[in-house]
Amino acid sequence: MLDLVIRDGRIVTESNVFDGSIGIQNGKITQISATIGESANRVVDAGGKLVLPGLIDGHTHMEMPFMGTVSSDDFYQGTVAAACGGVTTIVDFAVQPRGETILNTYKTWRQKADPKVCVDYGLHMIIRDFNTTNLAQIRPLIGEGVTSFKLFMAYKKELYLDDGAIYSIMEEAVRHGGIIGLHCENADLIECFAAKLLSEGKVKAEYHAKSRPPLVEAESVQRGIRLAEMSGSPMYVVHMSTGLARDEIKEAADKGLPVYSETCPHYLTFTEEAYRQPNGNRYIMSPPLRSDEDRAKLWQGLASGFIKTVASDHVCFNSKQKNQSDFTKVPNGVIGTEVILPILYSAGVAKGIIPLTRLVQVTSYNPAKLFGLYPRKGSIAVGSDADIVLLDPHKKVRLSLDNLHSNIDYSIYEDVSVTGYPIMTISRGEIIHEDGKFIGRRGRGEFVKGKPFQTKRPDL
Ligand code: URP
Ligand code: ZN
Ligand code: ZN
Repeated sequence: MLDLVIRDGRIVTESNVFDGSIGIQNGKITQISATIGESANRVVDAGGKLVLPGLIDGHTHMEMPFMGTVSSDDFYQGTVAAACGGVTTIVDFAVQPRGETILNTYKTWRQKADPKVCVDYGLHMIIRDFNTTNLAQIRPLIGEGVTSFKLFMAYKKELYLDDGAIYSIMEEAVRHGGIIGLHCENADLIECFAAKLLSEGKVKAEYHAKSRPPLVEAESVQRGIRLAEMSGSPMYVVHMSTGLARDEIKEAADKGLPVYSETCPHYLTFTEEAYRQPNGNRYIMSPPLRSDEDRAKLWQGLASGFIKTVASDHVCFNSKQKNQSDFTKVPNGVIGTEVILPILYSAGVAKGIIPLTRLVQVTSYNPAKLFGLYPRKGSIAVGSDADIVLLDPHKKVRLSLDNLHSNIDYSIYEDVSVTGYPIMTISRGEIIHEDGKFIGRRGRGEFVKGKPFQTKRPDL
């Protein structure tokens, strides 16, 4: 007797689309075939629906202390939103407080997340303090399953590390099978441009974008690639926003360097025009929104397969937090985990820009490979966790506040309507979301250890 059968769906994997049924027992996929005769405690009829691997959102910041405040989605509400968007695993960023060790930071983040998370989760570590103690803790931290480290070339006063520190951490991480995620924006240039704009009285949201022009990202990406090349480390450019950065990464990858990149739903949806709206501050994130041409280049990068992942960079702040006297004071970040799938399907697959298999690659298979979660996560395959999302390709939804689940009092996607929406999310064989309602349990999510790379590069 099976626990659950998903019958007659259009199953999508990273390499194939076919009609079939999926049998699930003890949280694992045990059968995939045209028909399943065995009886089951529950049968879900997926006729006419797409059946995809649950998304892995490789970039979230739940209850993140940042820019003098804390992001408004905690691990409970943020993972409810994730589940309702078809996300079955998040990889969140633990932020090392100054003066704390990275091993203690890992423990603190587990204590915060474990009682609240509703989907499975992994952790990246943001290293802020570069010293011999923390360098020595990289190896044991990888042993705990935290294999990826985010380092910042931006946020001079808050998260920034200099090139020497970045190089040294890269060198140590690669030695033990880790990977570096890099926030690529030149901190000195941002400081310089922002100070000049403020001195001219230019305080509005549109000047946020002016203080961080595309070359600020491209220069940093180029430098990051050189540091990765020198240290031999694989590198992953997080939240890439420009065509220029995309071209740098393509060139490096074409040379055979293990350099990868991620983009986010907001860069694929909006342009910097959004900053000119009365509520422009709500769209402030870093890097900022860009031109129409940049947006098109990101879609092209996904279509041709060299932008490897789409993740949310989910970090929400409510309207009070966003209401500040000048752009440098506005906490950076927007919602995203719940909209990755609808945006990619509606604006990408349905428009013929990316095929379904690419959607699965960038939202599930590739992040699973990059963060050491594969084959437990990242595919619909016998033996993998039964993490599955059913998508109704005809369902129309407006991404307004009413339809989203984050702890926030506005939606930057209020005017965006999509066709194609997740209608059921299954996590380790348990149905946790159905038709816009979260029906799972607080704290049911498990910490998933990332496995270190055996060679010096992810097999992607
Ligand atoms: O604007 C952003 N991206 N906020 C979150 C912090 C980060 O850099 O990812
Ligand atoms: Zn960042
Ligand atoms: Zn982020």
